[in-house]
Amino acid sequence: MLSPDSRFAAQAPSGSPGQRGDAPVRVIAVASGKGGVGKTSVSVNLAMALCASGQRTLLLDTDLGLANVDVMLGLSPRFTLADVFAGRCELHETLLEGPRGLWVVPAASGKRHMTELLPQQHVGLVHAFSQLDVPIDTMVVDNAAGIADGVLTFCQAAQDVIVVVCDEPASVTDAYALIKVLSRDRGVSRIQVLANQVQHAAEGKQLFDKLQRVTAKFLDVTLNYLGAIPRDEWLRRAIQRQEAVVEAFPSAPSAVAFRDIARRAGQWQSPQGPRGHVEFFMERLIAQPGSAVA
Ligand SMILES: Nc1ncnc2c1ncn2[C@@H]1O[C@H](COP(=O)(O)OP(=O)(O)O)[C@@H](O)[C@H]1O
Ligand SMILES: [Mg+2]
Repeated sequence: MLSPDSRFAAQAPSGSPGQRGDAPVRVIAVASGKGGVGKTSVSVNLAMALCASGQRTLLLDTDLGLANVDVMLGLSPRFTLADVFAGRCELHETLLEGPRGLWVVPAASGKRHMTELLPQQHVGLVHAFSQLDVPIDTMVVDNAAGIADGVLTFCQAAQDVIVVVCDEPASVTDAYALIKVLSRDRGVSRIQVLANQVQHAAEGKQLFDKLQRVTAKFLDVTLNYLGAIPRDEWLRRAIQRQEAVVEAFPSAPSAVAFRDIARRAGQWQSPQGPRGHVEFFMERLIAQPGSAVA
């Protein structure tokens, strides 16, 4: 556990090579439609597993309604994304250094949703991200539940979208609704499907097949089966300890599965050109059609 002081980086690290000139940042958005499916658990553990495999990783919590990335990692934010929007601090002041050097940008619970943010606040975020000088390879974006504009926008701006689904009718229908609007309205052509809380391996594939059948019929989108995370008591214990399961209980079944997912995510084709830079990620957010800024 880090000391309260070392947890909080008052400034972005200096003397780092920065992103420009480095390989583009890969942005992975995690969404699900329905709440409580496991987005934050997946985001936190995927980010930690990527970090452990040597990827410089930043975990961005965009759930201003029900943020809990910082809670899950036992971090104590001094400032959050909500403070950035309110003009109370600079983005780099929200940066927390988590375990294994994972960078975390926390949101804030009980604040306005991304959708309710003013256009100039989006612009402010773009500007702020472009000023960050944190060398990262991968950025994992944890999203709010639902299919509000903010969620769609973050997914659209990412190179890869992981849709988390579990074996509940509402989860499957919400995942379908999310995939539908992403493919029809936002030009997303490839989705990674991750089954969570499965009782056995076959359950995950069955869930995927269910989604695949209906999307193949009605939508023009490619679904990839990323795999399954078992329902795991160790994961719940890790949440209670405010640690990622991959750190707290590395041999737990869910931890093994998360490392496997991270390994596979590392093999996805690298983003080409500068579009993967964090500042471009943010610029794509505001440049998208339908945005109040565009
Ligand atoms: N693989 C899993 N095994 C056991 N419990 C899980 C698993 N994934 C999620 N949970 C439980 O579901 C709860 C909600 O997960 P969370 O990641 O916060 O979902 P979301 O971010 O989609 O709302 C967690 O607090 C945990 O208790
Ligand atoms: Mg969540």
